[in-house]
Amino acid sequence: MDLRIKSFEDYKQIYNESVQDPEKFWSNVADQFHWKKSWDKVLEWNFAEPFIKWFNGGQLNITENMLDVHLDNSGDKIAFYWEPNDPEAHDTNITYKDLYHKVCKAANALKSLGIKKGDRVCIYMPMTLEAIVSIIACARIGAVHSIVFAGFSSNALADRINDASAKLVITADGLHRGSKQVPLKEMTDIALLNCTSVEHVIVLDCIHSKPEMKEGRDLDYHTLIANMHNECEAETMESEDPLFILYTSGSTGKPKGVVHSCAGFMIYTAYSFQNVFQYEEGDVFWCTADIGWITGHSYIVYGPLLSGASSVLFEGVPTYPDASRFWQICDKYKVNQFYTAPTAIRALMAHGLDYVNNCNLNSLKVIGSVGEPINEEAWNWYYKNIGKNNCSIVDTWWQTETGGIMLSGLGNLSPMKPTHAGYPLPGIQAVLLDEEGSEITKNEKEGLLCIKFPWPSIIRTTYGDHERCRITYFSDYKNYYFTGDGAKRDKDGMYRIIGRVDDVINVSGHRFGTAEIEDAINTNKYAIESAVVGFPHAIKGQGIYAFVVSESDGSADSDELVESIMGSVIEGIGKIAKPDKVLIVPGLPKTRSGKIMRRILRKIAEGEKSEFGDISTLLNPDVVKAIADKA
Ligand code: PRX
Repeated sequence: MDLRIKSFEDYKQIYNESVQDPEKFWSNVADQFHWKKSWDKVLEWNFAEPFIKWFNGGQLNITENMLDVHLDNSGDKIAFYWEPNDPEAHDTNITYKDLYHKVCKAANALKSLGIKKGDRVCIYMPMTLEAIVSIIACARIGAVHSIVFAGFSSNALADRINDASAKLVITADGLHRGSKQVPLKEMTDIALLNCTSVEHVIVLDCIHSKPEMKEGRDLDYHTLIANMHNECEAETMESEDPLFILYTSGSTGKPKGVVHSCAGFMIYTAYSFQNVFQYEEGDVFWCTADIGWITGHSYIVYGPLLSGASSVLFEGVPTYPDASRFWQICDKYKVNQFYTAPTAIRALMAHGLDYVNNCNLNSLKVIGSVGEPINEEAWNWYYKNIGKNNCSIVDTWWQTETGGIMLSGLGNLSPMKPTHAGYPLPGIQAVLLDEEGSEITKNEKEGLLCIKFPWPSIIRTTYGDHERCRITYFSDYKNYYFTGDGAKRDKDGMYRIIGRVDDVINVSGHRFGTAEIEDAINTNKYAIESAVVGFPHAIKGQGIYAFVVSESDGSADSDELVESIMGSVIEGIGKIAKPDKVLIVPGLPKTRSGKIMRRILRKIAEGEKSEFGDISTLLNPDVVKAIADKA
């Protein structure tokens, strides 16, 4: 199945066609897949509810398109090259045929535990082949997977299990991350003290820590799978049946479960994968994301397998054993398309060129960036030192909610410009709106990035709360999907993402709501009130700055208090959300109606000491100076 556009001229024409007749465009793409039954209607939609149905009436199973269809001609082709955390440990490859049988066995194991179509399965696993197998096994039997990034804490895991009422958790005894280990099973046990929906826990032996197994509930992964049959018929799914839930943060409240559906997600991830990366038969693709984030879902698991690609799956981190690990892996597997995040690029850049120059990197053709704006310095470094001035950089803008890449260059076809994501993919009707909600038609203007027509992998709902989906994405600007990002179009119509315009902060490409971090801080017994803002950070893109009003004023600034508050965030969310700075303050600047003036706190976090504009209307103007003096 070759879905690739072959030139920039073709792109322009295809883009126009896709806008003029989206139904024709997407049904031509959909025709390339294997369906159990063809659809009745290509698209029905309104953004008011929202109500979005792509390929309604169609029946399929996405895993047949990821595995079964490749068996005859490419059964022996490598699906994944698995590279362990420890470079001295044993690496393994898995062919499409092996993956198929392993998935079938795991699918039968899930069935043996009573898991059926529609049930939710939580996956809290390291970057292993068994994690990939577990994900696909869920999809094989129509169970809805909810992957929780293995860097989240027990509390965060429990929240996600409870929100989805997951019946089963698949985890591991622990994981390796560089020189450290994380005890996942122990963390799962703690989470499950507060979860009643879970009937079983499947535990993969990964770090040989022999965790305690609860009789009747916990099962060893390999023992369970061992005697299962290696064929499992794929469940018949309706196009719009949910494929998975993935939790993501927003401006308000707890993270919400973004729901993606079977057919639309399948079509868009394959289409965007092949076009953005220009993957050619025989190439080796490597996306360094974790399967716990949307990038891992779309471009480690679904997009590449749907396209019959060979990919690298890496268990470890970019700096272990040293900062040349990424580049050594690129050489080892002769990676052709490499996809990572700006934070990794900046971190490796800081280690110096010696780590790059001892590697060859001449297999690379396309190098990608995702998750946050890439600054010009990092872009240039990446282009010159990794791409050797010879590879396309694809700066891909998208979101958990969009399911796939929305704005990006197409590898080696499109013009590139540092810090600019580029043009919308075919089928993506991106617009910029002004504050009043009118479309900005001129170029060289900045506005709010919205999408005015559905694409196949658009979010369908937020799990268990459709109204929240409507309010969050479809209510600010009538008849538009609002992304939460600000963007600018240059004179040629290329988009440059400026960043979030809401209370979402992006730390090393990980997305957090300020409210979510404040909630975690406020569980601390010393905290009375808090406000969290993002601030520019050289490696992480944004850092987390927490202003906390504390009860214990005497020893208020003690390291202990700050440590304790950081500990509450680690407990509530995970180490990934640990604030870079906690400042104990006498109060928070508020308007007379009691609203926290984050604008002022942002300035203070950026280092401003005195220029705060007019603060006379604040309820407590004096507090601003007091905070700025302490910062
Ligand atoms: O602000 C944008 C930023 O990441 C947000 C989406 O985060 P998440 O749902 O976690 O998905 C990340 C991976 C797809 C966006 O609203 N973002 C993502 N990609 C880019 C980006 N900002 C600038 N440039 C990008 N290429």
